[in-house]
Amino acid sequence: MPAPLNRALEAVLDGADAEALRRATTRLIDVYRSGRPPAEQVLADRVAATAYAAYRMPATHAAVARVLRYALEVAPDLAPRSLVDVGGGTGAAAWAVAEAFEGLASVEVVDGSADALAVGQAVGRHGPPAVIGARWTRRDLGDGAAVPAADLATVAYLLGELDAGLQERVVDAAAAAADVVAVVEPGTPRGFAAVVAARDRLLAAGWHVVAPCPHELACPLAAAGDWCHLAVRLDRTALHRRLKGAALGHEDEKVSYVVARRGPAPADLPAGRVLRHPQTRKGLVRLELCRADGSASAEVVSRRQGPRYRAARHAGWGDQWPDGGTDPAD
Ligand SMILES: C[S@@+](CC[C@H](N)C(=O)[O-])C[C@H]1O[C@@H](n2cnc3c(N)ncnc32)[C@H](O)[C@@H]1O
Repeated sequence: MPAPLNRALEAVLDGADAEALRRATTRLIDVYRSGRPPAEQVLADRVAATAYAAYRMPATHAAVARVLRYALEVAPDLAPRSLVDVGGGTGAAAWAVAEAFEGLASVEVVDGSADALAVGQAVGRHGPPAVIGARWTRRDLGDGAAVPAADLATVAYLLGELDAGLQERVVDAAAAAADVVAVVEPGTPRGFAAVVAARDRLLAAGWHVVAPCPHELACPLAAAGDWCHLAVRLDRTALHRRLKGAALGHEDEKVSYVVARRGPAPADLPAGRVLRHPQTRKGLVRLELCRADGSASAEVVSRRQGPRYRAARHAGWGDQWPDGGTDPAD
């Protein structure tokens, strides 16, 4: 995570009751690990919302930033001027979008938790200009309220908190509001199920996938009972380690996502997408790939393949992978 969000969090958390935040963090971890949609609002008070900002915002921000980077690699013409962050909570996705798109002029964060919005606004005062000027709108998406119109809608770490019917309504509302929708969820079987359902829904409505899929066919991983995800590594701050009682200086945020747009289809979908950490052995790199023909299988690249081998050694989990006809080092 770049320094500014960390610094903003430090500024806002300065003087907070560390023990209360630690207890609230433990409660949040229990709720999110349960793997069930919560029965009631999770960020129901200021301490819970502050704990969420401290322990989750860096990771959700890093995940959305990575997703946007991949989307831009496939569709460099993406240039939203306005964002609606649906279920945006403390605004991590809004930060990532504002950092990715210089031309972003207007941000609206919509969420059911007044406390999350208030904390997000306080953190956002230290953020990029579009976040400083954001509107923070309290709205329960379960009430069937429309999503405000914008060029881009982010739906990050929200669908998992909703039942299946509401997930569908929220995806439809985001698609009605924006020309580009980014759905981001934890990289778990459950998170992926919500993402693949959103992908199916958007494709059925005539939308086009920007990332991660190199095709618009049925997901080969879903068909195999597997789940498509990647890991984003981020450094933990000292505060983060204290709140989580964690010793490691970094964490790997697992994420599933889809970015889709109303049209046109991206001109250059990649030939493949790396589905796992590449395996490197003497003179060989094995890449598990999702391919443009809708299949998933391995490619083994040997040192004899020169530039392609060098590119394979640099390829990371989640990256796009060029086809055999192109020289990835070029
Ligand atoms: C896990 S947080 C994600 C926040 C933010 N998008 C992020 O990535 O850090 C889920 C958010 O969804 C909001 N939420 C859950 N159900 C909602 C509903 N029915 N209406 C509006 N917001 C809701 C919660 O208040 C919370 O802020």
